[in-house]
This record gives sequence, C-alpha cells and structure tokens, in this order.
Amino acid sequence: MRACDIIKKKREGLELADKELSYMIRGYVSGQIPDYQISAMLMAVLFKGMTGEETLSLTKLMLDSGSRIDLSGIPGPNIDKHSTGGVGDKTSIILAPLLAAAGITVPMVAGRGLGHTGGTLDKLEAIPGFRTSLSVPEFIKNLRDIGVSIIGQTGEIAPADKKLYALRDVTATIDSIPLIASSIMSKKLAEGIDGLVLDVKAGSGAFMKTIEDARKLAETMVGIGNSAGKKTVALITDMDQPIGKTVGNSLEVKECISALRGKWQDDLKELTLSLGAWMIEVAAKTVGFTFRCEGRDLANLEEYRTGLASLIENGGAFKKFVEMVSAQGGDPETVFKPALLPSARLMKQVAAGASGYIRRMDAGKIGMASMLLGAGRERITDSIDYSAGIILNRKTGDYVRSGEQVAMLYYNNERNLEEAEEIFLGGVEIGPQKPEHRKVVLEVIQ
Ligand code: URA
Repeated sequence: MRACDIIKKKREGLELADKELSYMIRGYVSGQIPDYQISAMLMAVLFKGMTGEETLSLTKLMLDSGSRIDLSGIPGPNIDKHSTGGVGDKTSIILAPLLAAAGITVPMVAGRGLGHTGGTLDKLEAIPGFRTSLSVPEFIKNLRDIGVSIIGQTGEIAPADKKLYALRDVTATIDSIPLIASSIMSKKLAEGIDGLVLDVKAGSGAFMKTIEDARKLAETMVGIGNSAGKKTVALITDMDQPIGKTVGNSLEVKECISALRGKWQDDLKELTLSLGAWMIEVAAKTVGFTFRCEGRDLANLEEYRTGLASLIENGGAFKKFVEMVSAQGGDPETVFKPALLPSARLMKQVAAGASGYIRRMDAGKIGMASMLLGAGRERITDSIDYSAGIILNRKTGDYVRSGEQVAMLYYNNERNLEEAEEIFLGGVEIGPQKPEHRKVVLEVIQ
C-alpha cells in the first residue's frame, strides 16, 4: 500500500477501505507517514467528504489509537456533554457541577479555544491554581469523591486525534463534517460514559454556519454514538450571537459564578437548562436514573428543568462548583470573591454609531475581536491573556441610542486594539426594525 495512492483515491471522491484508513492513521501516529501526506489527505477529505462507513472507521481508528477510561467502578450514571465550539459558550462550567448536584456523574474531557472560539479548559485555568491536566487516576478519584471533573485530552485519550487536530488547525481543514464528527466522538467514546448530549452550534460563530450543515454534523455524531452503544442526543443551538454577556476567559468565569448564584442572562439559562434536562433524560433512558428533587421524583424534560433551576436557587450547584475548583487545585477564595480573578489593566467603551434596534451581533466577529485583545489563540501553542475580553452591555433585539455604550473591551496590550474595535463594530448591525426573536435551541436530533 502507498500513501500517495490512497490520497489520490480520496481526491477522486472514492470510498476508502478500512485497511487504507488504518494504514494512514497508524502510519501517521507511528511517524512513518509525514505531515505533508496527511495534510493532503485531510484536504481531500474536506473537499470530497466521507461516507458514513468511512467516518465510523476513522472514529474507531482514532479511538483505538489510545486507551479507554474505565469508569466501571464509578456509581453512574456517567453522562457527558460536548459542544462543537462557540463564542461566549461557558455552559460546561455551570452544567458540570449542576448535574453532579443532581446526582449524575460528569466525566468531562474538554477542549481549548481556537481561533475565534473559546475553550472550557482556558476558562477554568483563569482560576489561579486550577489544574486541567490531571492524570486518569486523579480524574477517577474526583469523579468518585464529588461526581465531577473537567480535564484536557491526555496523551492516552485518542492520541491520533490530538496529532491530527493540531495539523488540521494549521492546514485549514477543521470545518469538515466527517473530521469534526470523528474527532469529537473518538474522545467521547474513550471516556467510558453511559450517554452523551451534544451541543451542535449553528451560525456565524460556529464551524457550521448553516442549520443544514449543523444538522448533518449532528446526525453523523448521533449515528456514531448510538452505533457504539452509547445513547447520544444532539441539540442544534444558535451561535449567531455570543452566549450570555461576556467573551473572554476570566470574564466568563465571573459570569458563571454569578449564574451559579442565580443571576444569569436568559439565553445562558435557557441553553444550560435545556442541555441539563437532556442529560437527565439520557441518564433516565440508559440506566433508569431517577432525578429526585425536594422529595419528589421528576419525570419529564420540563420537570427536569425546574429541578435543575431549584439546584441553582438552593445553592447546591454552587457548592459543587466550589468542591470541583478545590479538588482541581483552584483557589476557592476566588469563587467567593470573583474580584480576585485576573482583571485587565485597561478598558475601552464601544459606543453605538446610530440609534435603533441591534439587529445582529455577529458571534464570529465578536469572537475574533476578543481573540485580538488577547483572550484567544491563533495557534494551539500560542499563550493567552486570561483577563482580556469583552462585556456585552446590549444584545440582539435591544434598543440603543447613538453614542450609548454597547460593550466594553478589556485588554492589557494595545497592539491590536484598533483592529479589534473595528471588527467588533463591523459585527454589530443597528436598524429601525426590531429583529425577530431567535430561539436558543433550534432542533433536537435523537
Ligand atoms: N472540537 C473537536 O474536538 N474537534 C473538532 O474537530 C472540532 C471541535
């Protein structure tokens, strides 16, 4: 077999056999096939796509490149949630302790931000001392002791994906449905979970810009999960404007702390409770879990939402968050006094250029502006400024007067300030007509 022939076959749009995919993936992981040949192969996949069979084979090969975490000793249900990546999407940080407080074990392997998108690991690392690189035994200990842990991909979890993802990042081959689906699902299936809820983002701030593409990605991942015997549900959610009112690591952690104390924006609340209710539904359907709240057995999605909201109101979720932060080496003092979290030295107000309704707040552009202020990275190896980011004082549908503050930019380095402001303003559309209300959850794929 020759790598060049396999690349040519994919370039011509033909289906690759299992043994050809295996030759490429194993060869790449062992260092026998060089980056340039895999880059060509990835580009051929991006243009020609993959069949369902090929995507499933690729997922299995990436999964089998590493080991699986054995959660059999953990009293389940073990349910995770994964998002395909967005702007201001801080839901995992609220959801993981919230679900643990509801009696679900949440073994979460999360990712870092890339380009205009943010990442849960970077956000958590804004908390002084917080360690996301726990060993598997430490991860399992935390799950057993407190029911929740959020870590990064270790060298043992789908190492083929780790290597491929870094290469895709620098070869413009991220936004391919089979490549995203196999990347996410290989990591999730390695976690040893009972079930999974996927948040597939659609819109300007997502990898999938249209609902049709998001649906295809969701169906592909749900198919892979279910065929591996893991109950998988996907929610397609709006990523046309950032979620909540903050973008940037430390700012987002502060917003999560306030949400866990019961003060949160409608869209963040809606998204978190919807995903959480589905996680409970998956637990109920897979292992017969019963969510008991205030002495009552809850029985459907609506009741699960109410139950989860009451765990925010009675402080149960906040308490679990403090336990999670402490167990991962973070300073719990910062949770009680968020002013101790990293804060930028400089800030600049962005004002509305006209009076009218905010018709659009382009999540992609706002994410890019935040990245330029220092909150994100262009390359996986770039370092980030935890304190940089944006607070949105207005969102889509709000009325603003000319000159009124729309957002505040936070930064320590002025180098990209002008460009960031320009990009931000280019993403805000103001007009006389109030826009139609956009739903947060657009579709559910089971
Ligand atoms: N998240 C991943 O883990 N992989 C992708 O390809 C895209 C988002």
